[in-house]
Amino acid sequence: MTTNPKTDSKTSLDAYWMPFTANRQFKQAPRMLARAEGMYFWTPEGRKVLDGIAGLWCVNAGHASPKIVQAIQAQAAEMDFAPPFNMGHPKAFELAERLVEILPAGVNKVFYTNSGSESVETALKMAIAYHRARGDGARTRLIGRERGYHGVNFGGISVGGIVANRKMFGTLLAGVDHIRHTHDPARNAFTRGVPEYGAEFADDLERLVALHDASTIAAVIVEPVAGSTGVVLPPKGYLERLRAICDRHGILLIFDEVITGFGRLGSPFAATHFGVTPDLMTVAKGLTNGAVPMGAVFAKQHIHDTFMNGPEHLIEFFHGYTYSAHPLACAAALGALDTYVESGLLTRGAQMAPYLEDALHALKGLPHVIDIRNIGLVGGIELAPIDGQPGKRAFDVFLKCWERGVLIRTTGDTIALSPPLIIEKSHIDEIVGTIADVLRQAA
Ligand SMILES: Cc1ncc(COP(=O)(O)O)c(C=O)c1O
Repeated sequence: MTTNPKTDSKTSLDAYWMPFTANRQFKQAPRMLARAEGMYFWTPEGRKVLDGIAGLWCVNAGHASPKIVQAIQAQAAEMDFAPPFNMGHPKAFELAERLVEILPAGVNKVFYTNSGSESVETALKMAIAYHRARGDGARTRLIGRERGYHGVNFGGISVGGIVANRKMFGTLLAGVDHIRHTHDPARNAFTRGVPEYGAEFADDLERLVALHDASTIAAVIVEPVAGSTGVVLPPKGYLERLRAICDRHGILLIFDEVITGFGRLGSPFAATHFGVTPDLMTVAKGLTNGAVPMGAVFAKQHIHDTFMNGPEHLIEFFHGYTYSAHPLACAAALGALDTYVESGLLTRGAQMAPYLEDALHALKGLPHVIDIRNIGLVGGIELAPIDGQPGKRAFDVFLKCWERGVLIRTTGDTIALSPPLIIEKSHIDEIVGTIADVLRQAA
């Protein structure tokens, strides 16, 4: 039996099979978190850790934000659960109305889920069912992008493009293809903000249209800014070009905004930041500030209306979850929205972005740094991999930063930063300064 030497507890660490974790490594040297407030976590021993990743791209308003805490507490006492099928509760409708106020014009329907992965599955099903509902049932093909991350369910890993997330799980969904990714370090390394070169990568969709014929393609799904694959940004003009190609061929465009939603780029959504409106958007994480699991799909009016065509007593879309529009989640999301709006957090990232950009790009020239990427309050620092041990260099930096009281995240050999949007300049100095020290010492 493994016991945790770092807590007083006798609790064994054996039974919990941890997600996306090197379980054996972790259980030998556990990294435990016990409390959180504002920009910080505290370990069970009381050590303070600065959160450089908003938990996991979730906690945009910082931890234990008072309005959200109060909303959840009050809701738990008032009504813990309400069935979402054929029944409603006021906060679900109020939240949908409030969300529409900050969505891009024309996107005005909200379908609730419980996670980013579920939002993706919902959007993919909605896209296929939409074409069928309007009498175009041959449009079943789904197009993703290399290096894309769309959660871990079968639809999401099928359209996703991260090899490790796919290779263990069989043949996945049939009828899926991928356009190429937009990472082009040869031309774009060390660019500040969106890269100059690569709008033409969107034309890869034309290649797939030529191969499969547009009449078989339901939708294309992309992350406007990709996080899990190591912070990959859309080249200038790329998203506009993708939108135009989709329009030309009657293909739905889905933006997976699970990490970009709710102010991450300095605008409420990536769609509003880039001025490109997709047909469907998937969100989660920041929707409730991470406090209660919740996701959603946002749809354009005409997509919703296409379903509203059968006998009125029949269900129009055979899809939903027991916990869709969970009262605690709705209460948390309303508290989060209030907080975001009152504190200006949906746009605060735009004010802080130049400072983060300067701090990050000052790391150029440090040992092993081969690229630096940034947008809004997102930063990516790519390190040269150790020969034969991909991912190890960045993971070692993660461990050393943790020891020094700064929580960062790594994917492959890229350090990905996504701090709470309440971050101050001194926090940026501490996060980036700690990374710099660790990189210098690792040399
Ligand atoms: C772009 C994107 N889509 C989907 C997901 C999956 O979300 P969840 O882990 O809530 O299922 C993530 C998670 O990081 C994500 O970054």
